Amino acid sequence: MSLEEKLNQLEKMRAEARLGGGQKRIDAQHKKGKLTARERIELLVDANSFEEFDMFVTHRASDFGLDDQKVLGDGVVTGCAKIDGRTVFIFSQDFTVFGGSLSGAHAEKICKIMDMAMKVGAPVIGLNDSGGARIQEGVVSLGGYADIFLRNTLASGVVPQISVILGPCAGGAVYSPAITDFVFMTKGTSYMFVTGPNVVKTVTHEQVTSEELGGAMAHAGKSGVCHFACENEADAIARVKRLFGYIPQNNCEDAPYEECNDPADREEEQLNKIVPPNPNQPYDICDIINHIADRGTFFEVHEDFAQNIVVGFARLHGRSIGIIANQPAVLAGVLDINSSAKGARFIRFCDAFNIPILTFEDVPGFLPGTEQEHGGIIKNGAKLLYAYCEATVPKITVITRKAYGGAYDVMNSKHVRGDVNYAWPTAEIAVMGPKGAVEIIFRKEFADSDDQEAEIERKTEEYREKFANPFIAAAHGYVDDVIEPKTTRPRLIRAFEMLETKKDSNPAKKHGNIPL
Ligand code: HXC
Repeated sequence: MSLEEKLNQLEKMRAEARLGGGQKRIDAQHKKGKLTARERIELLVDANSFEEFDMFVTHRASDFGLDDQKVLGDGVVTGCAKIDGRTVFIFSQDFTVFGGSLSGAHAEKICKIMDMAMKVGAPVIGLNDSGGARIQEGVVSLGGYADIFLRNTLASGVVPQISVILGPCAGGAVYSPAITDFVFMTKGTSYMFVTGPNVVKTVTHEQVTSEELGGAMAHAGKSGVCHFACENEADAIARVKRLFGYIPQNNCEDAPYEECNDPADREEEQLNKIVPPNPNQPYDICDIINHIADRGTFFEVHEDFAQNIVVGFARLHGRSIGIIANQPAVLAGVLDINSSAKGARFIRFCDAFNIPILTFEDVPGFLPGTEQEHGGIIKNGAKLLYAYCEATVPKITVITRKAYGGAYDVMNSKHVRGDVNYAWPTAEIAVMGPKGAVEIIFRKEFADSDDQEAEIERKTEEYREKFANPFIAAAHGYVDDVIEPKTTRPRLIRAFEMLETKKDSNPAKKHGNIPL
């Protein structure tokens, strides 16, 4: 065969591989409102930057008539590419080939790019659309999953890992995305569950649809498995790209810096008016964040889950930061099981990947009740505390209003290595809210009083004047300064700049034992 003939053959094979499971199945994929594995990659990466590996890999199974059903690439497209000029490794499961199911060879392709990502220190993005284990391959497929799980775990905290669920993701297959740092899902076309509606019906007699059981909103709002519930695939991919801009290539690098036109000395008059004079009145912490961060840069993560805490990325004078903020507009910003776990996981991502942490604090305490106690608020609250304690990246806190009780300690207080802690003059830092405190301290006196209500009110006001302010904490050095709200942006920019060369470490150990 001449070189020309060989090149023709190569091109023919490439064309065959690009067609995956064939035009009919591609049409069926489109009809469901889904893109193909290759179209997704094209949308995600810089033009012409995709370098594909293992295009000619086929499965090695022969049972169930599989010998004559070999498709080049075997149901997953893998390789490396650039997003905004930065290297990334990608696998994209092809539902048109055996329903994107995972064979031994399919798993080896994924493992290969994960190993490369670890060697070169680049993120991994997985586009998932799969019927799960390739049923005909049996235990070989299960072994393939375990090989991926192991790599997900070893890569955790070394290179960022992002999972995008764009179709089925069922059975044990869900555990790969679950170990990764961020999970994106599309509404209506993706689902994740350990056991599907049929098994659920048999075992528990519950009647439930796939969407209700494991759709994007179920996992974004209820289980917390999904960080981004997206309208469609284009929305999901656009958001992956946005997230990518805030995170570094690996744990030894910093997140990319972006030129910033928003002045570093911008003071924001509006900030002096956001916190209402009545401490029981809510306000939206996102207003504060948006006034302080570089304009238009706040990118919320886990938006639909545990909305009493807000987490997300933003830029401060061009630098990527992670924000954790109590949200007084939802449940008064109280800490509960879900908000604690949400905050803790986000802090740990930021700390692992050298992203400085900014905390906004307005928290009345932990949520009381049997549901919370029996559900494990102790161990979940401890996760948040642990995450703040162990984090060694620059950590700054701004107390906008309430910092009561244990929650004061937890939310990046100086005592848990907060580097710079500011309070606004509206801050109330004490063991508990004025009314609760008065009722305990003066319980005996009130018992003898004829006009209990008025007494309580008078004492509460007295207590508020004396203790519900930032100055006692400031007198102890527990806050570094009390600042005028409108000056917060310039103060934070200067403080983070000062902390840029911060070095801190934890004692040598194999690993800690975070209360899971
Ligand atoms: C082999 C599979 C497959 C699988 C789908 N296909 N799943 N082939 N192994 N797991 C094939 C189908 O035979 C079909 O082939 C094509 O993919 C498309 O499937 P359809 O059923 O026509 O598509 P759809 O109606 O959209 O349904 C998708 C589906 C369904 C919901 C995913 O296919 C399904 O339920 N599949 C089985 C899911 C499953 O039980 N997987 C194992 C889970 S256990 P043709 O040739 O007709 O196009 C597991 C363990 C992992 O994953 C453990 C890790 C620890």
